[in-house]
Amino acid sequence: MGTATEDSSNGYEAVANIYIAGRGTRARVGDSIGAGVVKAWADAFPPGATVLDLGSGPGEPSTRILQEAGLTTYAVDASPTMVAAFRERFPGVPIERNTVEASEFFNRTFRGVLAWGLLFLLDPAAQALVIEKVARALEPQGRFLFTAPRQPLEWLDGMTGRRSQSLGEHTYQRLLRDAGLTWVADAQDEGENHYYFVEKV
Ligand SMILES: C[S@@+](CC[C@H](N)C(=O)[O-])C[C@H]1O[C@@H](n2cnc3c(N)ncnc32)[C@H](O)[C@@H]1O
Repeated sequence: MGTATEDSSNGYEAVANIYIAGRGTRARVGDSIGAGVVKAWADAFPPGATVLDLGSGPGEPSTRILQEAGLTTYAVDASPTMVAAFRERFPGVPIERNTVEASEFFNRTFRGVLAWGLLFLLDPAAQALVIEKVARALEPQGRFLFTAPRQPLEWLDGMTGRRSQSLGEHTYQRLLRDAGLTWVADAQDEGENHYYFVEKV
């Protein structure tokens, strides 16, 4: 644990306080864009199921939604400031300060993995690696939910100014298939974020 540096958070450590003051402190979880999609995904797990939040940030709203659904949650984030804010909000929830590329995901398996606003921050090889790692970490019938634009696309992240990259749905489908995962559905939220619903069948 603890190999994370400012750079390994893809620029988020430098803007963490601004991020936390915005998305990280909604008066109600339901106020956040996309919260309904993630809540519906979380509510479909049996009570107490173990779910991992990758690139959790301060845990608001993602880990909060998982907790409110009665799930046992774990998290990984590379930004020290995000991790400190997470620990303040969720003192009983294990979080590893590390990159998702280097993390061993607590050396355990999960019923679900969430990567909300993360994958497209990574370079293409790292995205493929993380998909493989998620596939290995999921239990049979486990579910993975991640966000990325449908089209292959590069853009500058609005908060960090760094390059983001969606590989596009066809490449994601291939990477998922190669890793033994099945893309089962997708959805779009009110902020036009695109969600991929994936299962290990
Ligand atoms: C756009 S924010 C999303 C946070 C949260 N999932 C949400 O929906 O509000 C991206 C988060 O991913 C983290 N992050 C970026 N690159 C990472 C990496 N390689 N490994 C782990 N976390 C990373 C950042 O520190 C930041 O907290």
